[in-house]
Amino acid sequence: MASGARPVALITGASSGIGATFAQHLASRGFDLILVARRADKLAELAARLPVTCEILTADLATDDGVAATAAAIRGCASLELLINNAGFGTLGRFWATDVAGQDAMHRVHVLATMLLTRAALEGMTARNKGGVINVSSVAAFSVNEGNVSYCATKAWMNSFTEGLALELAGANSNVKVQALCPGFTITEFHDTLGVDRRGIPNFLWMKADDIVAASLRGLEKGKVIVVPGWIYKTVVAFMDPLPFAIRRHIRRPFRDRRV
Ligand SMILES: NC(=O)c1ccc[n+]([C@@H]2O[C@H](COP(=O)([O-])OP(=O)(O)OC[C@H]3O[C@@H](n4cnc5c(N)ncnc54)[C@H](OP(=O)(O)O)[C@@H]3O)[C@@H](O)[C@H]2O)c1
Repeated sequence: MASGARPVALITGASSGIGATFAQHLASRGFDLILVARRADKLAELAARLPVTCEILTADLATDDGVAATAAAIRGCASLELLINNAGFGTLGRFWATDVAGQDAMHRVHVLATMLLTRAALEGMTARNKGGVINVSSVAAFSVNEGNVSYCATKAWMNSFTEGLALELAGANSNVKVQALCPGFTITEFHDTLGVDRRGIPNFLWMKADDIVAASLRGLEKGKVIVVPGWIYKTVVAFMDPLPFAIRRHIRRPFRDRRV
């Protein structure tokens, strides 16, 4: 994308859900956009609805080529002010019984792509002393669940990675901001792709992608490194996080996911 006067945001996983919602919010704030995902038709539909310049990058972030193409787009954009590492998915089943390709892809998308794309973005952002990276994690980062081992582990990595970067950026007196956004259950295509019936989860636990994105962008303005949208999830994390590991492990037992 040509370097113009308008700031640019690159969003991975922009073809649906939280990523598409970020695109809508950022377009209304005057950002031009680079939209990344595998489904080019969905990206094109979204771009046609937005009143800003959108570049579409069809890339599978579980592949080296997909990550390299996205990193090249980041390095080539001198006006990049925001990177949103949002692409992600879940799997079902015990770790040793699930298709290993899905576990491999999850680590590539959640961990490797996030690390490599953040590295590409921070080169320019730290030099310009301006910009931000939002890593879309999950409240699962604060937990471990049966049937969800890699998901919780990769999201916990995202939080730790983001907190480490925040420390380094503060130590370097940089104005660049980083955030780990940790949503709870959110109405998107996530559970459809996973094959989980949303009706099995109580209504009061579901949040709207609009509210998740609004909380994230408010948090970024205030420089919040970990953002947990919604009072229910804030309360759960506030109680769970400080507990010693042995107590957390004991509490978890009755809540085991019986579907695995
Ligand atoms: N929904 C929830 O309850 C919830 C809760 C906590 C955290 N999250 C996190 O929020 C993020 C967004 O998920 P969502 O809820 O908005 O679900 P979603 O509607 O299913 O969106 C997921 C996005 O990720 C993209 N994606 C998946 N695999 C990809 C790959 N290999 N390469 C490139 N893009 C890929 C998908 O695009 P294509 O299929 O077109 O490639 C899609 O745009 C994820 O990181 C998820 O873990 C979701």
